[in-house]
Amino acid sequence: MIGVGVIGVGAAALTGHLPALSASERFELRALLDARPDRLEAATARFPVEHALTDRDAFMALPDVDAIVVATPPDSHAALAGEALRASKHVLVEKPLSRSLAECRSLVDLSQRNGTRLCVGHEKRFHPSLERVRALLEGDAIGEPFYCGIHWASAAKLDPERFIPEGFRPGYEWRWRDPSVGGGLVQDHLPHYVDLVRHWTGREPEAASAYCLNVARDLLGRPPAESVWEDLGLVVVRFSGGLVLRFETSVVGRSLSPIWSLGAGRGEWTEYGYLLGTGGTLLFDLLPWDSSEHGRIAFWQVARAAGEDVGWAYVEQAEPIRRAGGAAAEMFLAQAGAWADAIEGRESRIAGGLDGAVCVAAVEAAYRSVETRSEAPVEVDLQVPA
Ligand SMILES: NC(=O)c1ccc[n+]([C@@H]2O[C@H](COP(=O)([O-])OP(=O)(O)OC[C@H]3O[C@@H](n4cnc5c(N)ncnc54)[C@H](O)[C@@H]3O)[C@@H](O)[C@H]2O)c1
Repeated sequence: MIGVGVIGVGAAALTGHLPALSASERFELRALLDARPDRLEAATARFPVEHALTDRDAFMALPDVDAIVVATPPDSHAALAGEALRASKHVLVEKPLSRSLAECRSLVDLSQRNGTRLCVGHEKRFHPSLERVRALLEGDAIGEPFYCGIHWASAAKLDPERFIPEGFRPGYEWRWRDPSVGGGLVQDHLPHYVDLVRHWTGREPEAASAYCLNVARDLLGRPPAESVWEDLGLVVVRFSGGLVLRFETSVVGRSLSPIWSLGAGRGEWTEYGYLLGTGGTLLFDLLPWDSSEHGRIAFWQVARAAGEDVGWAYVEQAEPIRRAGGAAAEMFLAQAGAWADAIEGRESRIAGGLDGAVCVAAVEAAYRSVETRSEAPVEVDLQVPA
């Protein structure tokens, strides 16, 4: 059993890491640290531990804690993960690994020097439906993928009082208001999908271009302090081999599923995507985060589209997920197992520090393209020749 402690007992810990680490046979949950005593009290009522602390130094010095999850907002990742690595703990940092590539590099350096494992919470690698997408790609279902379009969006910011579930408001507040987190929606969500494309295809991001809107500030008239960061982002990332990812993300409105609008219209957000390949197209539509049902996956194959057969097929899914917490519980538990493998020196599919750093590098490039464009806007030439 690996003695584990968790820093930051907010949404990611309560819905992901704590249920998974408690259920895992590889870990024993021994300690929690949070800056806020009220959060700590609420968390320990559900996940009792030997050490529930607000004192960071005391937490880092616990001799029965070998591994630490950092699940605080991104502005504290570098300091907390750095301290944990210096205390010779193995560390799993929630995405994004940190606010900047420079901070990520120093964490990677530190773990390499100390010989402790630095991993990153890119748990979508272990999502049952996204695992299935990976298997289909590996099985050559659509040939060589060259384009991936992904939509992750919610309408939470249009009416926060109604659309943010009870108890989750504080997590949204720092995302929207706090300048020190270092970024907005693009920083929050792009890392997941850069990681998935890398994990699925082995391609590396080479260039990024982005457009961002601040709808709450500019159209809804909210005070700038309430909407520091973008609330809609469109990012195009070019990967090695010419593969292009188009990622759109928003908290001011969402689309509906291309496959199954019932799934995408429910829950807090909509998440779907498609890949175009040299031999066909693959669509995936994820159901709500904690759904017991699997997401919908369909694909179209050039070779099959002949005669009566239009070429589309739905992927038959496994039985519903019986575990409480559904798909989210399943992927965090699988990630915990992979983390234990990495800690014990076994081969593991968990994202490492370098994987996390590459994703943050893509985020930086996207934001840099936004800044550069606003300094030197390029007008669209409407003098189209007759
Ligand atoms: N992988 C995922 O799918 C996923 C989902 C949600 C959040 N996240 C990530 O998890 C991290 C946390 O997000 P969240 O939504 O859980 O936030 P949250 O606001 O719900 O929780 C953060 C917790 O950290 C505590 N905290 C903040 N600074 C601290 C410090 N310096 N020391 C100790 N405690 C501190 C807060 O009091 C709070 O309880 C972020 O990096 C976010 O991007 C990942």
